[in-house]
Amino acid sequence: MTVSKSLPHDTAREHVTGTARYVDDIPTPAGTLHLAFGQSPVANGKLTSMDLKDVTSAPGVVAVITAQDLPFANDVSPSAHDEPLLADGSVHYVGQPVFLVVADSHLNARKAARLAKISIEEVTPILTIEDALAADSRFEDGPRIYGKGDVDEALKDAPHQVSGSINIGGQEHFYLEGQAAMALPGETGVTIQSSTQHPTEIQHKVAEALGCPFHEVVVEVRRMGGGFGGKESQGNALAVACAIAARATGRACKMRYDRDDDFVITGKRHDCRVDYTVGFDDVGRIVGVDFTQYFRCGWAQDLSLPVADRAMLHADNAYDLPHARITSHRLKTNTQSATAFRGFGGPQGVLGIERVMDHVAHHLGLDPAAVRGINFYASGGSISGQRKVGTTPYGMPVTDSISQELSDALLTSSDYSTRRRAVAEWNAQNEIFKKGIAFSPVKFGISFTLTQLNQAGALVQIYSDGSVLINHGGTEMGQGLFQKVAQVAASTLGVPRDVIRPSATATDKVPNTSATAASSGSDLNGMAVRNACETLIARLRDLLGDPDAIFENGQVTSKGETQTFAELAQTAWAARVSLSATGFYATPDIAWDRIKGEGRPFFYFAYGACVSEVVIDTLTGEYRTLRTDILHDCGTSLNPALDIGQIEGGYVQGAGWLTTEELVWDDTGRLRTHAPSTYKIPACADRPDIFNVSLWDAPNTVDTIYRSKAVGEPPFMHGIATFLALSDAVAACGPTYPNLQAPATTEEVFRAIGRART
Ligand code: MTE
Ligand code: MOS
Repeated sequence: MTVSKSLPHDTAREHVTGTARYVDDIPTPAGTLHLAFGQSPVANGKLTSMDLKDVTSAPGVVAVITAQDLPFANDVSPSAHDEPLLADGSVHYVGQPVFLVVADSHLNARKAARLAKISIEEVTPILTIEDALAADSRFEDGPRIYGKGDVDEALKDAPHQVSGSINIGGQEHFYLEGQAAMALPGETGVTIQSSTQHPTEIQHKVAEALGCPFHEVVVEVRRMGGGFGGKESQGNALAVACAIAARATGRACKMRYDRDDDFVITGKRHDCRVDYTVGFDDVGRIVGVDFTQYFRCGWAQDLSLPVADRAMLHADNAYDLPHARITSHRLKTNTQSATAFRGFGGPQGVLGIERVMDHVAHHLGLDPAAVRGINFYASGGSISGQRKVGTTPYGMPVTDSISQELSDALLTSSDYSTRRRAVAEWNAQNEIFKKGIAFSPVKFGISFTLTQLNQAGALVQIYSDGSVLINHGGTEMGQGLFQKVAQVAASTLGVPRDVIRPSATATDKVPNTSATAASSGSDLNGMAVRNACETLIARLRDLLGDPDAIFENGQVTSKGETQTFAELAQTAWAARVSLSATGFYATPDIAWDRIKGEGRPFFYFAYGACVSEVVIDTLTGEYRTLRTDILHDCGTSLNPALDIGQIEGGYVQGAGWLTTEELVWDDTGRLRTHAPSTYKIPACADRPDIFNVSLWDAPNTVDTIYRSKAVGEPPFMHGIATFLALSDAVAACGPTYPNLQAPATTEEVFRAIGRART
């Protein structure tokens, strides 16, 4: 079967030869215009006047558009309608789009955008978590609290207690293809090319901006050069700007952000602070934990509420916490509106409890892997040992846990115990270079927490030559979704993979789609496409008058006779049988009330674990990752090669988040790190010297597409093992818990060494 084969990415060849087309590569019609935003120079204030004469008269400028010129909705928010396309009366962060320049070239538009004289009555900006708490500047009325049991009582009775706090930095998506969009005005309506994970939302925002029904807007996406959550909502502004300018000028309009603009204008991963108090017994079993999560959400709501919710839902990670309270503050600040980023708040929640485990083990002088092990949720299905199936702090029973088995396998295959002893010996003998090793597990909930988003549609077309075009609502951003879904179609129709062509995602083929996000792309769209293919097979079997006709390897065998799939397609056409079908899927058995914090938000959990070893130079704080071993659960993998690619990439991106990637804002709210010169993403040299990734091979316990599991986001959290290994190495420098903060840059490691020695 084509499913479960390690086929390469469907356009791997095009990616590496440079022939893959991104929005900016699409040939443009004559007279295409180019757009750039004029940006706010201050973080908070009232717009008192705008002199745009020099902008208007700059070379190549065709039009300049302000909020007052917008005929309909001035709104690009994906949620609360609190995000105007162009600032209207006030500005809320440095870089906020204030006006729009339409010019004959990209460069002319950008140059002209800098010539405005904007007067702003400045107001003291709210920049930090502390500023926001002092001003009670937040989304929602107060903090949200989920929990179980009686934490205060549990902490009082606990044999041991520690408290602490970890600052967790944000992260720039740094997709290689920056945000981009193009609009082609039609007779009525408009066609948009967008680098977006969410074509349907682009369609909606454009329609609202043009004052037209959704059916007049077509949005098409062939691929993104990476999205990572940064293209769930952040592409709205460019697409809407292009649509408005195209409507105003009657010409094709294109916009792409230069890398610096992309950094300065768009939202990033939420940075946050997690405070904790934990009570535990002599062997490190947790009896109660109290978390407070402070999320810096930026100026507009965007997706911050569901992101912060997911951080709460992952505050337990793989551990059965008898008593737990998670308090979440969603703080409103005069910075970029923080947005989705791989893991969607989950990584911040997981890092909180992993820090707690690290702190507990250090306090008791125990092996941190052992402390983790005794706190795992009991294995699902059967009752393991004396422990019964646990329940999350939000009341969902964990019936599919494999943390124990998977971790045991990884600790063995990575030779953890022996290497831990070797690290201790090394550290006893070496003053300058200290080593650290750490283990961390992940359990990640799969489904959109907003239940209604867990649906997908498909349109499958068989042509009379037997070739097949598949369309679905999922978008391709490098993760390999198109290949996986094509494999599903090939397997269901019983044809070779090359008979199938995945089409660009388009809102006029499959309507009302969800963003390709929450790692659910293949779960949802795979099922929808299979459903459509099954409808077609049923029609063809009807035509053959044989419910048992076999479709295999491009051949159809019925009543002892064999013909090719192409021959049957031709016959079906001649017999006037419809050869196109829609498909649909809605995830069963889930329901979640985010206000009450009750229900089953996730269809299942994906599991994994990582062991990482590092060495640090105590004189400078510099470090290297020596070896990383990962064992990760993809259920029955749809495509092991692509899954391993997701795991490797996820780990590297997660490790980058917690080590070298540091965002720095100055005290006026300007982001000072807005290019690769000042913001360091992992490069080839940062890859672990030894890097072993394997798949945990067991089918999903619930009925997903071929019993596979989602893989897009969960491996991101394996980067936490590298952070913990750094903490372990620093802890070898002195008696005090080093309280390593994230990101653990060279400077932070150096500072933490100082703290450990006190
Ligand atoms: N992998 C690549 N190469 N590029 C990406 O942009 N995005 C990640 C993950 N893996 C991403 C990626 C994120 S944030 C998500 S939610 C999933 O892929 C989305 O795709 P899926 O649902 O098909 O896994
Ligand atoms: Mo991924 S953050 O859900 O796009």
